Amino acid sequence: MVFSIIAAIENNNGLGFEGQIPWQLSADMRYFKKITTTTNSSSKKNVVIMGRNTWNSLSDKYRPLPDRLNIVLSRHAAEQFSKSTIWTTSLQKALNLVELEYSSAAEQVFVIGGATIYKEALKSVECETLYLTRIMKDIKCDCFFPEYNKEYELLSKSVPAKEGNLKYIFEIYKRK
Ligand SMILES: NC(=O)c1ccc[n+]([C@@H]2O[C@H](COP(=O)([O-])OP(=O)(O)OC[C@H]3O[C@@H](n4cnc5c(N)ncnc54)[C@H](OP(=O)(O)O)[C@@H]3O)[C@@H](O)[C@H]2O)c1
Repeated sequence: MVFSIIAAIENNNGLGFEGQIPWQLSADMRYFKKITTTTNSSSKKNVVIMGRNTWNSLSDKYRPLPDRLNIVLSRHAAEQFSKSTIWTTSLQKALNLVELEYSSAAEQVFVIGGATIYKEALKSVECETLYLTRIMKDIKCDCFFPEYNKEYELLSKSVPAKEGNLKYIFEIYKRK
């Protein structure tokens, strides 16, 4: 099952601090929403897969992320299935579920973090596309996006833009 990764990173590939994203960038939130919700077929939804810590970092207002099938990974939680959110125990199980049980309802699959799930996802040859928002600033982080340069090449890059004191750029990488 082919899938993509979407992440926002600062100058040192930092992703988060103390369980949250340590910046506010509404342009990136809009980009994230657009990329992860847009489908070719109006009858289908995209899938977002995240680790338990990332799920916990979302406020009640934003979870489950609307208009997407949310899959949360936890090695300890019991498997649970509802209309909008599935809890399961491995990335491979999540991908198999989408392929076997939800193929008629699901379109694209996005791994949306955090650090541990990105690390595992990047090992998979099925991870074809990386959507990376680069925030051109040093921001204190305690978890980081893994090394990816050897397997991926830059496909496109937006012109730099600025919001408040944050300069940022949207990049898309494809697996070589
Ligand atoms: N900048 C960004 O784009 C971005 C995006 C997302 C998140 N973040 C940030 O990243 C941080 C969270 O990242 P994190 O690495 O701490 O946590 P995480 O990857 O979101 O979640 C880790 C948890 O997921 C479960 N898990 C991990 N690997 C698994 C596997 N192979 N199979 C099944 N379950 C698995 C485990 O849950 P159990 O302990 O329950 O087993 C683990 O404790 C936060 O600061 C968040 O704000 C940033």
